Amino acid sequence: MYPDASSRSAELYERARRVLPDGVSRGTVLVNPYPIYVASGAGAWVTDVDGNRYLDANNNYTAIILGHAHPTVIDAVASQLSRGSAFSFATEAEVALAELLCARVPHFERIRFCNSGTEAVMTAVKAARAFTGRPLIAKIEGGYHGAYDHVEVSLDAGPDTWGPASAPTGVPYAAGVPDSVLAETVVLPFNDAAAATALIEAHGERLAAVLLDTLPSRVGMPAPDPAFLDAIWTSARKAGALIVADEVISFRLGPAGNLHRLGRTPDLTALAKIIGGGFPVGAVAGRSEVMDVFAALDGARPRVPAGGTFSANSVTMVAGRACLELLDAAAFERLATMGERVRRGFRAMFDQLSQPGQVTGDGSLFRLHPHDRPLRGYRDARPQGEESAMMGRVHRELLNRGVYLTTYGMGCLSLAMTDEDLDHLLDAGQAAFAAARAAGRGSGAGR
Ligand SMILES: Cc1ncc(COP(=O)(O)O)c(C=O)c1O
Repeated sequence: MYPDASSRSAELYERARRVLPDGVSRGTVLVNPYPIYVASGAGAWVTDVDGNRYLDANNNYTAIILGHAHPTVIDAVASQLSRGSAFSFATEAEVALAELLCARVPHFERIRFCNSGTEAVMTAVKAARAFTGRPLIAKIEGGYHGAYDHVEVSLDAGPDTWGPASAPTGVPYAAGVPDSVLAETVVLPFNDAAAATALIEAHGERLAAVLLDTLPSRVGMPAPDPAFLDAIWTSARKAGALIVADEVISFRLGPAGNLHRLGRTPDLTALAKIIGGGFPVGAVAGRSEVMDVFAALDGARPRVPAGGTFSANSVTMVAGRACLELLDAAAFERLATMGERVRRGFRAMFDQLSQPGQVTGDGSLFRLHPHDRPLRGYRDARPQGEESAMMGRVHRELLNRGVYLTTYGMGCLSLAMTDEDLDHLLDAGQAAFAAARAAGRGSGAGR
């Protein structure tokens, strides 16, 4: 049972804290009071160092789409490993993955690889600034785009600081962020067409780009309102600002990503997660006129020099290609059908338990909310009162029933999951919510 002070995971965390701040290298693996240390993963399931098994409904925060240790990816990587992992040379593997992505997505004319989604977003922002010669970036309140200063603005703003709903105040996330970062970031409320238009118009001449995730997880994963998307496209185009899509997560919604599915064409797209087949990856893709900022045209230095020691390393390139080649239209349809079943199942669960709740998400993604207030953007989704504690209890109850979800209720399916796995997820979910609610009542919370 979790937590168990005598477990191997608890013991490892004690060791870890002596050498790693907080015991980890990414806060997103922390669970209170100690993170689970994984020993192995196979398909839809992982086994921890104590021998407990969990259905993985987190999938490394949506990066794993085929399931763990997929044989085709293993073969591709093993064959590459025996020939070397990373070189100070160009490789055919890089060309092949670039060709695959550009052939699949009409608005990808050129692509440049890097090593993470953070790096992809940062590089896309630099490209937009270089292309337009403008300093400002607009982003969605509550939107997560990685750990780069400008795009972290208002990631976690609260009622004390967030200002008016139609013109959110830019609130720093990390300590030490200079005021200049706030001055260079415009914060837009998701799904508010009038406010987005007014803010983009107000900053128009100085705006380099609007950064947009069309299914933002930290904003609660509400569906994007077509009128809001129209407003962004119309006002950004009018202002001469670029549209940078963050498809780091939402690329898993269809063979050519979510923007293509929505019939929208961005100028640039930041990619990561599934395109690396389970290995560290990032990429910026888009129209060649803009992507040329990365090119040394006429022998001159590129306007935006971009690269890193492990950019387009051979292991990531072959793994990404092996993974994407398995992701045909039928695979995305299957994921969408599975996702629909899970979202419907959890909605029915909330009804059955007479528990206020709602489920957002799309395709293979879902997010559970322990409340039923209308949810259009960040301020509606942000947990209130006892809601965070409730989701924390649900997370723990799920662990003890063999399901691993994010601590804030976002879930993600993989193609390795079977119908029985989805039954397990829904059964464990119902039991977990019932137990979490009973425990909350027992402690007097939520009364
Ligand atoms: C929408 C979005 N953008 C960017 C990032 C950053 O990607 P990475 O963790 O690979 O740096 C993430 C990570 O979860 C994300 O969800």
